[in-house]
Amino acid sequence: MTNNLWYKNAVFYEISVRAFKDSNGDGRGDLRGLTEKLDYLQTLGVDCIWLMPIYPSPLRDDGYDIADYYSVDPAYGSLDQLKVLIEAAHQRDIRIIMDLVLNHTSDAHPWFQAARSDRNSPYRDYYVWSDTDQIYKDARIIFVDTEKSNWTWDEQAGQFFWHRFYSTQPDLNFDNPKVREEMLNVARFWLDLGIDGFRADAVPYLIEREGTNCENLPETHAYLKQLRVFMDEHYPGRILLCEANQGPEDVRPYFGDGDEFHMGFHFPIMPRIYMAIKKERYEDMAEIMRRTPSIPENCQWCTFLRNHDELTLEMVTEEERQWMWKEYAPEPRMKLNLGIRRRLAPLLDNDRRKIELANSLLFTLSGAPIIYYGDEIGMGDNLDLFDRNGVRTPMQWDSSPNAGFSVETPFTELVKGDLGYRHVNVASQLSDPDSLFHTIQKMIALRKNHAAFGGSDMQWVETGNPAAAVYLREHDGDIMLIFNNLSGTLQHVDVPVQYQTACIDLFTGQSLFLNTTLEIGPYSYFWMQIQK
Ligand code: GLC
Repeated sequence: MTNNLWYKNAVFYEISVRAFKDSNGDGRGDLRGLTEKLDYLQTLGVDCIWLMPIYPSPLRDDGYDIADYYSVDPAYGSLDQLKVLIEAAHQRDIRIIMDLVLNHTSDAHPWFQAARSDRNSPYRDYYVWSDTDQIYKDARIIFVDTEKSNWTWDEQAGQFFWHRFYSTQPDLNFDNPKVREEMLNVARFWLDLGIDGFRADAVPYLIEREGTNCENLPETHAYLKQLRVFMDEHYPGRILLCEANQGPEDVRPYFGDGDEFHMGFHFPIMPRIYMAIKKERYEDMAEIMRRTPSIPENCQWCTFLRNHDELTLEMVTEEERQWMWKEYAPEPRMKLNLGIRRRLAPLLDNDRRKIELANSLLFTLSGAPIIYYGDEIGMGDNLDLFDRNGVRTPMQWDSSPNAGFSVETPFTELVKGDLGYRHVNVASQLSDPDSLFHTIQKMIALRKNHAAFGGSDMQWVETGNPAAAVYLREHDGDIMLIFNNLSGTLQHVDVPVQYQTACIDLFTGQSLFLNTTLEIGPYSYFWMQIQK
């Protein structure tokens, strides 16, 4: 594992450890369970796993509320078991990154406990306090369904404390040099253990300044650059992945001159993939890509269709949001904050063609794709569960009781109905060569075999057909022409004359000659390698 740019053409896989596989029969997934399932992930072909938080936590925000940065919650296992997992993954050429939650701790963290109980505690200044809740008024509220203010009065402290998320997650004070140093120590701790990097959570909010929206401030970037210098110096080849739910113009500075983040999520392209499939036109995707500034050579975007949060609609206009809700969240309980709390398969009507099409876009657009666990088999969600828990249900391994996830009753209710484990599970898909699993596996393998997909070059090809998303990917002499029919009807696509040439259809392996027009079935796609 010596290629320091490994992430540029890697396929990522996001895992909730709690929901993946239980090895000790307590109904909760754990590190040993995940280790047992590495063969599965290797069969799927992923290069890097992203672990959602495994730190001790009261779980008021599913582990994004950390009570101790230096250990693993015993429910998941031990530090030694994490080391075993990392080693076993590395043996299979799979890397592991984990969540690094810099912005806030749990209110159960001893730092906060000390801070709130004593004004003179050295930990008081670890957090952001105020006698009034009338400052930083220009900062928006993120969890609009649950929080009324970013300030919460603390009786014990006799002051308000600042929080961008739940009021059980006080923000750390990044103006305090001790906090800045402490978080470098946290990073060092896990990197020394062998972790390959971090998905850095909620980074736009580290620093607050009056008169600003308290997002993406220069001081925040300065700290993140410090973190990068530290990583490069001591841990070359490990990566930082930026979670900044912002427009492309605002995410661009997180790459710096190739000296801040290695990777950043491309939030705005995600809802536009869903818009494209429903509106049967590619223009919204093309528009956001045009708006996306180029990034340094050693950086890469991360693309995704779904993750553990609601399908966020923060990066679309108000009108588009209402439209997305109408189309994709017809029941009020499907909405959450400014988003939609559903999984991929139910969102796309469990229509195999649409699910494949969305994945075709995911795997061929510019950026490195992340798969959310279970979406490779098209598992469902459970809307009866609170908040985002409905999309964090146990992985559906087989049709035995408890989905093969645990011998005991799982920590949460499973998915019910057609997309539950009796109908949708890994075992049955592994044994069916035509399953969604095998299609995704094939997409991953093709993607990894072709340099074109890991490069940054991507050009839309104008064919005069708004329903045909056609684009060129090119890198290191590898040229790929991708055709996606976004519509539910057969389309004839005019092939521009310069591409009327010999090519290979990657899915069939057949050589063919691209003629003046190409017929594409409803929601179908072709990945063509141009032969020059
Ligand atoms: C990120 C996480 C989300 C969490 C929030 C606060 O947005 O993805 O799950 O609730 O940060 O940590």
